[in-house]
Amino acid sequence: MNFTLTEEHLMIQQAARDFAQNEIKDAIERDEKEEFPYEIVKKLGELGFLGMMVSPEYDGAGMDAISYVLAMEEISKVDASVGVIMSVNNSLVCWGIEEYGTPEQKEKYLRPLAKGLKDGKMYIGAFCLSEPNAGSDATAQTTTAVRDGDHYILNGTKNWITNGTTSEVYLIFAMTNKEKKAHGISCFIVERGTPGFEILKKEKKLGIRSSDTCSLGFTDCRVPAANMLGPEGEGFKIAMRSLDGGRIGIASQALGIAAASLERALKYAKERHSFGKMIIDHQAIQMKLADMATELDAARLLTLQAAWMKDRHLKYSRQAGIAKLFASRLAVKAALEAIQIHGGYGYVQEYEVERYLRDAKITEIYEGTSEVQRIVIARDLLRA
Ligand code: CAA
Repeated sequence: MNFTLTEEHLMIQQAARDFAQNEIKDAIERDEKEEFPYEIVKKLGELGFLGMMVSPEYDGAGMDAISYVLAMEEISKVDASVGVIMSVNNSLVCWGIEEYGTPEQKEKYLRPLAKGLKDGKMYIGAFCLSEPNAGSDATAQTTTAVRDGDHYILNGTKNWITNGTTSEVYLIFAMTNKEKKAHGISCFIVERGTPGFEILKKEKKLGIRSSDTCSLGFTDCRVPAANMLGPEGEGFKIAMRSLDGGRIGIASQALGIAAASLERALKYAKERHSFGKMIIDHQAIQMKLADMATELDAARLLTLQAAWMKDRHLKYSRQAGIAKLFASRLAVKAALEAIQIHGGYGYVQEYEVERYLRDAKITEIYEGTSEVQRIVIARDLLRA
């Protein structure tokens, strides 16, 4: 056992911290205007943060999952909206194409996705599994893909798609054989602008408001058969394996929100006076801060453990679920405590902790709700 980060990990953590603190500006304003951070995302790509674990052969940064956790925490600490944009591109889009893609798919799609840039323009991806009636119950898909010569014809609707209005590449999961249920789902790489593919309603959200979320419609949308990712019927497995890695990303995003909550609460507690002393000198405040610090350490260790297992190609679904379940619960709790410590100031926009709470809540919902994480954990326990 060794709890020390390597020199390389420390450098990546510092680089992400410097970027986040110096380049991610105006989070409050972007949150209010629901404005996508184009320039920030382009810079993230230039620095290699959008394809962190992609091999350098495809223009990725060739880093490990531990580096990814460290960077995600730093970025999300300043703006969790930027964190989720980065996480989806890394874990749910690049990972699947690198793992399952043909050499042609990797050349055409993975290379620009790993840099987040093509011809000087932002180039990111979206992962499209959820549907109006298939969220947690992901095998209840109704989007269909029917073979027609050397194409598949897609029909259906996808919901809650992060990076939905801003992506160039979409991984679409669709039923190629309804009778086979989970084993009848396949995955397709669909380009923005394909006829029959429409970007529908952009959602107005409680939190992560500067990341975009929308629904997508497919009406007789012809996709080349060559754009199927992995074998026919393997789509659900691709989705689940991608989400195992994605859950490490969201746990790291939650860590960032919790760390920011603790940092702000500590700073405020050292500035604010009540009853003749700084509020940090009240034991009631010290208890809250101590609990936040304890649980943050625990969440960080769980997340790093899941990443460590992924890096060693061990089975890590349970650990990713545990990390996400624990870290997301902490993010909400820590943000609430930060508001409580700030009192009335915590309830207003200027002090940012109210945004942390709004951003934290989604970490208990997307990439598998906390209830789904418990299913994943319990099933693994039963198998053991
Ligand atoms: N790795 C590999 N294979 C897996 C797997 C994994 N982690 N999990 C399941 N599978 C396989 C199973 O082994 C099984 O295969 P066999 O039949 O050959 O044994 C098959 O997939 C079906 O699995 P289950 O029977 O476990 O399926 P289920 O219907 O009971 O569902 C579930 C299980 C865990 C609830 C799953 O549906 C799930 O994870 N739901 C949540 C979906 C989710 O996270 N959605 C998030 C949307 S994306 C998003 O939020 C991104 C964003 O925008 C930020």
